Amino acid sequence: MPGKVKRETGNALLEVKGLRVAVAGNEILKGVDLAIRAGEVHAIMGPNGSGKSTLAQVLAGHPAYTVVAGSATYDGKDLLALKPEERARAGVFLAFQYPVEIRGITNSYFLRSALNALRKERGEPELDPIDFLQVLEEKVKRGRYRARRHPAHDRRARA
Ligand SMILES: Nc1ncnc2c1ncn2[C@@H]1O[C@H](COP(=O)(O)OP(=O)(O)O)[C@@H](O)[C@H]1O
Ligand SMILES: [Mg+2]
Repeated sequence: MPGKVKRETGNALLEVKGLRVAVAGNEILKGVDLAIRAGEVHAIMGPNGSGKSTLAQVLAGHPAYTVVAGSATYDGKDLLALKPEERARAGVFLAFQYPVEIRGITNSYFLRSALNALRKERGEPELDPIDFLQVLEEKVKRGRYRARRHPAHDRRARA
């Protein structure tokens, strides 16, 4: 991934500068610059093997990836100096692309554990299963509403 995207970097929440990353002895990322401000949604596109997953993994702290040069800061902190679990508690983590099924662990239990880990970190009280169910139902309701309102859905509906 040699390309650089020039954009406004003022008040960046996540700032990656000149990041070079090797995996299994090969340098895959060759100087990535990226600045993301709070509330922004970014999509990184590129051919297979160009290093998109490598960038995501190294930011999350996967041990197979070696940072050769460059920096990544999150909320002013040196992201690369933090352990993966510290990055996750700060808000940098990978969602599952293909979640595995673990018998006995429901989605609700899993999501509540994740949320409570964040709440604990922020000094907020943890949610019990009943409180969490309300949060979950509210989010699901809002998600459904958004999905129906998305223009892509309208287009498909008309086609
Ligand atoms: N754990 C790994 N071990 C060895 N090679 C890897 C590993 N992860 C990625 N690579 C190599 O790094 C390159 C970039 O892969 P990847 O980041 O998965 O690209 P993308 O997500 O853009 O398709 C590929 O050549 C891939 O084979
Ligand atoms: Mg990938």
